[in-house]
Amino acid sequence: MANIKINVDRVYSFVGQEKIDSLQQEVSLSYNELINKAGKGNDFLGWLGLAGETLNSPLVKNITEEAQKISAQSEAVVVIGIGGSYLGARAIIDSLNDHFTHYQKGKPEIIYAGQHISEEYLYDLLHLLDHKDYSIIVISKSGTTTEPALAFRLLKKHIEQKYGKENARKRIVAITDQSKGALKKLADKEGYPTFTIPDDVGGRFSVLTPVGLLPIAVAGFDITKLLEGAASMKTELFKSPSLAENPACLYAAVRNALYRNGKPVELLVNFQPKLFYITEWWKQLFGESEGKGHKGIFPAGANFSTDLHSMGQYIQDGLRVLFETMLLVEKPGRTLEVPLEQDDADGLNYLAGKRIHEVNNMAAAGTAIAHNDGGVPVISISLPELNEFNIGELIYFFEFACGISGYMLEVNPFDQPGVEAYKNNMFALLGKAGYEDKQKELLKKM
Ligand code: PA5
Repeated sequence: MANIKINVDRVYSFVGQEKIDSLQQEVSLSYNELINKAGKGNDFLGWLGLAGETLNSPLVKNITEEAQKISAQSEAVVVIGIGGSYLGARAIIDSLNDHFTHYQKGKPEIIYAGQHISEEYLYDLLHLLDHKDYSIIVISKSGTTTEPALAFRLLKKHIEQKYGKENARKRIVAITDQSKGALKKLADKEGYPTFTIPDDVGGRFSVLTPVGLLPIAVAGFDITKLLEGAASMKTELFKSPSLAENPACLYAAVRNALYRNGKPVELLVNFQPKLFYITEWWKQLFGESEGKGHKGIFPAGANFSTDLHSMGQYIQDGLRVLFETMLLVEKPGRTLEVPLEQDDADGLNYLAGKRIHEVNNMAAAGTAIAHNDGGVPVISISLPELNEFNIGELIYFFEFACGISGYMLEVNPFDQPGVEAYKNNMFALLGKAGYEDKQKELLKKM
């Protein structure tokens, strides 16, 4: 039995159970396409068996050793990457880390770069790194993405000036394609230690490759447990496509049923600030996988109860196009009770002695009922607690569900042709060679 549980009771007043059950055949077809690698994009299904394969390979040991080496020499490690080469590591590290120190005792702080092109951010980062001992992990599957390449050019210069070229080489690790791309060429030329991203794993499905595993290990978390969680979820999900037994198939079926019944927007919500980047990772996973051919469920996110005081009004009472998926954590990692106050000036004594978590739970329950009553179907997905194993389960659960759901939408969930459009325009506008005609065309639109 998986640790992660799904509950769809608050969906049935919008799409009945019979309607959802009637999707069983369609789900089974998608499931078979996925696990037999017979559907669209089947050359990008390396992630399906990756966790178990990695556990049985020397990779975990190699990554752990490299992580120890980097940790020992660094107060901070800058992880450079964007999209699938960034969000997974950040999602897992943030969900396990201390909220305020942002690092584990004796481990380096992880800092991110290359996930946008902000001059101010990069300037401030270089200034910060003047005063810290640091190393760099640069990640790009293609090895040609502009944002991380630009950040790496600046940081490479900085780290070489700070430590000297020879010593700087010992502080840089590259994670990229086995043979192609500018980063691979550069890593070979400079002699950086390198880890490979398998050809058959796309960016947004790559968190359990060195792309996520190395930064997560450097931050001090147990990558074996993470992989075990994912492998255990795989065993669970490979047993049967039955909606009664397979939580990922049920999730895929329910979201498609809602989509077909006038709910094209899914809001993933949490009640724990540590899950902010899990939502960001999930948004990429589903958005980039499903938003094709002018269709797809729009993945959005909100952080409760914070956003109940900003987005709450719209969710409760705006256009009825939303359904909500609540990501809940049953047991917090810390204990804190509401104290008793003699004069009860703030009127909170009715909560005295209760755990803060209990108050949060009631906020979640109250929100689910209110949103349901207001016309928002609510799915809940709960984890017993935040640890490496459960996060591994969650990652695999969402990846698997995404594959099934994408096939139900009749798209290729494993490509991302639309991402190229802005890049081509940017290259043309910046005057890159080969884009001259495009530049003329775009200048007319400026
Ligand atoms: O999922 C994807 O394919 C994208 O989000 C990529 O991960 C992202 O564009 C970064 O690409 P790369 O790793 O090639 O630099």
